[in-house]
Amino acid sequence: MTATTNKPQLPPGPKDMKVKQAMNMGYGLWDYLKQQQQAFGDYFTLRLPGQGPMVILSDPQAIKDVFSLKPEQYDASKTQLPMDVGEDNTVFLNQKAHQDSRKMIIPPLNTNRLKDRAGVMHEIVTEHINSWMVGDEFNIPRLVGDITLDVICYTVFNLRQGDRKDNYKRLMLGWLLSACSDANFAIGSMIGAKRYRGMLNKQYLKRTQQRDFGNGEKGLFPWKQAIDLKVQLADLIRQDIRAIRKRMDANESHMLSIVARATDEDGNLLAEERVISETVGLLIGGHETSAATSAWFMLWLLKKPDVLQKIRQEVQASIATEGHFDPLKIAELPYLTACLNESQRLTPSAVGTVRWLTQDTRIGDAFIPAGACVFPCIYLTQRNRRVYGEDAEEYRPERWLEGNKFGPNEYFPFGGGRRACVGMNQARQQLRIIFAEFARRVTFDSVHAHTDQWPTPRQIGGQTEPEAGVIVRVTGIRPHNADYPHARTEPKLAQPAY
Ligand code: HEM
Repeated sequence: MTATTNKPQLPPGPKDMKVKQAMNMGYGLWDYLKQQQQAFGDYFTLRLPGQGPMVILSDPQAIKDVFSLKPEQYDASKTQLPMDVGEDNTVFLNQKAHQDSRKMIIPPLNTNRLKDRAGVMHEIVTEHINSWMVGDEFNIPRLVGDITLDVICYTVFNLRQGDRKDNYKRLMLGWLLSACSDANFAIGSMIGAKRYRGMLNKQYLKRTQQRDFGNGEKGLFPWKQAIDLKVQLADLIRQDIRAIRKRMDANESHMLSIVARATDEDGNLLAEERVISETVGLLIGGHETSAATSAWFMLWLLKKPDVLQKIRQEVQASIATEGHFDPLKIAELPYLTACLNESQRLTPSAVGTVRWLTQDTRIGDAFIPAGACVFPCIYLTQRNRRVYGEDAEEYRPERWLEGNKFGPNEYFPFGGGRRACVGMNQARQQLRIIFAEFARRVTFDSVHAHTDQWPTPRQIGGQTEPEAGVIVRVTGIRPHNADYPHARTEPKLAQPAY
């Protein structure tokens, strides 16, 4: 821990070369972070290529200070995301522009709209499970990623079926996989993420102007395919924006329509590129995060059959009470909620969040110089014995049902403060519905169910995932109305809200 001082000073940290530190962070990072915490305490500094020093924090007081920073105390444009989302995306904006932008993207994600969407989310999960056969093999993060894309097609573009939806899905997945590739992230970290995404964006704008869509195939350079697919995806979104602006239908509540019809302070519609930028931003925000979270949750359930059984019983009890699978009731089930919370506590998909300081700043016990970035470490803080007790490292969902209250500086898998995740409620609702139906209707087998070993975590697209995913084999599927009190009456599937 750094002593209180009047001179800003970086906390100590490992002396390894920057490239070595980056490699340790990319592969097996949880052990690496733990080792550094044991060596240096709750404040230590890592040095990575292409960026300034990064101060890793796991003291809850320091986390509280970071989440209370004033907007002028940090610069989000330095965020180390080497993907071309457009520089005027919410994630990179600062101060008033950032607040205004959040005001624009939060309404489509508000509680009432989420309630409207729960039925369709359940319908999508049901369709997926109904299409499986015993013996099918899946990689859980890719499977949940696929379900998530269907949900995004509905919530963002109001598309449930058809060629246009298939086209969106193909382009979104292709672009995400290509832009998140190890090669693109490695180049971004070597030359600096901001510089790299600036270069990609310039190419994208030039190609868009020339209407040069490319062939979407891999090329000599790792960025070629990502640019091709972004040009193609943006073209589809642009067509939709124009159609929405012709209709100007205030009854439409899908995200693209709300953002495309939003106006700035002077009453002007936003530039098309800005709307495209926010749309692909929501896609990045919602896809890999949910895929990675589901991979870790599935691992816990495979290793803890008693927990899975209790979830199954809780879901069946809800169906017995309601007479059917009520997705809103299911999304509020206390034990299921506790199990997902506990998974996100011990195995969060984001290892931490970042703020790049623009001024010398006191954070907890440290006085950190301008230019450094502070990193509230979700992984380390959420395993703190002082907060969670002696069994902090154990997966014990009951801790959430015993009247404990963990503060926003002690449990923050969705970040915190003014920049906390805008999609938290949507993500939670969606994951609870997916896992409730997995638990109730499907039995899976996997090598992970037969060993105490945990796979090595690695960074994929900025998220932490098990290095080879989580491969499962379907060993049994129950009909969707298996637990319904009047099983011969087909339950009515939800109607789209618009
Ligand atoms: C399990 C799923 C998810 C996890 C774990 C997650 C996690 C996070 C984290 C850690 C942050 C950074 C917050 C900070 O800096 O303090 C963030 C920001 C953000 N997330 Fe999520 N997220 C998830 C799902 C979603 C979804 C579904 C959406 C969109 C529908 C979304 C959209 C965003 C956006 C736009 C931001 C930037 C907010 C800002 O800069 O003001 N996320 N998320």
